[in-house]
Amino acid sequence: MNPKGDLNARDNTELRLKYASGYHAPVLWHAVIQGLVTDLDGVYVDGTLGGGGHTAALLDVLSPNGTVIAIDQDDEAIREASERLSTDVSSRRLTILKGNFADMRVLLSNQGIEKVDGILLDLGVSSHQLDEASRGFSHRMTGPLDMRMDQDQPMSADNVVNEWEERDLMMAFFQLGEEPKARRIARAIVAARPLRSTEALADLVRDAAPRGAESKTLARVFQAIRIVVNQELEVLDTALESAVGLLATGGRIAVISYHSLEDRRAKRFFRSGNLEGEIKKDFFGHPISPWIDLTRKPISADEEELKQNPRSRSARLRIAERKEDRKTDRKTPQ
Ligand SMILES: C[S@@+](CC[C@H](N)C(=O)[O-])C[C@H]1O[C@@H](n2cnc3c(N)ncnc32)[C@H](O)[C@@H]1O
Repeated sequence: MNPKGDLNARDNTELRLKYASGYHAPVLWHAVIQGLVTDLDGVYVDGTLGGGGHTAALLDVLSPNGTVIAIDQDDEAIREASERLSTDVSSRRLTILKGNFADMRVLLSNQGIEKVDGILLDLGVSSHQLDEASRGFSHRMTGPLDMRMDQDQPMSADNVVNEWEERDLMMAFFQLGEEPKARRIARAIVAARPLRSTEALADLVRDAAPRGAESKTLARVFQAIRIVVNQELEVLDTALESAVGLLATGGRIAVISYHSLEDRRAKRFFRSGNLEGEIKKDFFGHPISPWIDLTRKPISADEEELKQNPRSRSARLRIAERKEDRKTDRKTPQ
C-alpha cells in the first residue's frame, strides 16, 4: 500500500490543516492518499469533489505530470472548489466537471479518457451542504424540504414526504434508515400532510419517536429521505461497476462511506466483484474477481482525527486494486 512518494516524512498536522477547505476537512486523507496513489504521474478521478480537500491533497502529492479529474453534482461545490483550486485548473492539472459519478465513464470519455490510475468516492453530503439551512439536509435547522445534492434534478424531499404512499415511506424508513418505528412514523407523516419545512418534519418525527430515542430517530428518518432523493445506493452500485472498466491494471479505488448500507456494498463488491457478493470460482476453483481487496477491515479515523473532526467518526475507508484480467476470469471451459 505504499505510493512512490515519501508521504510519511511529511508533518501530518500541517498537511491536515493545509487541505482543510475551511468547511470540510478531508476525512482520512492521509490513508486515502497512501492507499490510492500508485503512480505519481497518473490520472486520478475524485468523484466527490465537495470542498476540494482530497483533490487538493492529491494534486499536492502528484508530480507536475499527474492530473486529477474532479466531479460533483452540486453547483455550489463546483463554484467554490473551482475558485479555491483555480491555479491547478489554469495549469490543466485539474479538470472540474459537473455531473453524477454514476456517469463517470461518459464524463471521462468526453474528455478523451478511457483508463485511469485511481478513483476516490467520499460518499454522502459535505459539511457545507449539511450546515446550509436552505439546502434542507439538517433536522437541526429550519429550511425547505429539499435535500437535493444536484439542484437541477426534479425530485426533492418535498415530493417524497408529501406524495409518497404510506407503505413506500415505511419501506424507505425501514430499509434505508434502519428505523424500527418506520410504520408509526410513515403513518404520522401521511396524517399530518402537507409538511413544508425541515422543522415541521422534525417536530412530527420527534413526537412520533419513542421517548429517549428522538435524536436517533430523526437522524435515521432524515438519512432515509436523503438517500431516496439522491438515489445514493443506485448511483454507488453503478459507479462500482463502471470502476472495473475504467481502472487500468494495478489502479485503485478508494471508497469512504458513512453508513453501513454503503460500506456493506463496497465490502461485498471488493470481495466478490459483483453487487450480490457471490464469490464465483473458475474451473480450477480459483475465485473470479477483478479486485485485490486491500482492506479486509475498513480503515477508520484515529483519535487525533476524531478530535479535529468529529464527523469522521462514522467514516469507513475501503480500498481495492484492479487485477489483471486472466483468461479464466472471462470464460469457464465447457
Ligand atoms: C463528503 S463530500 C466530499 C468532500 C471532499 N472529499 C472534500 O475533501 O472536500 C461529498 C460531495 O460529493 C458530492 N456527491 C455525492 N454524491 C455524488 C454523486 N453521485 N455524484 C457526484 N457528486 C456527488 C456531494 O455533492 C458533495 O459535495
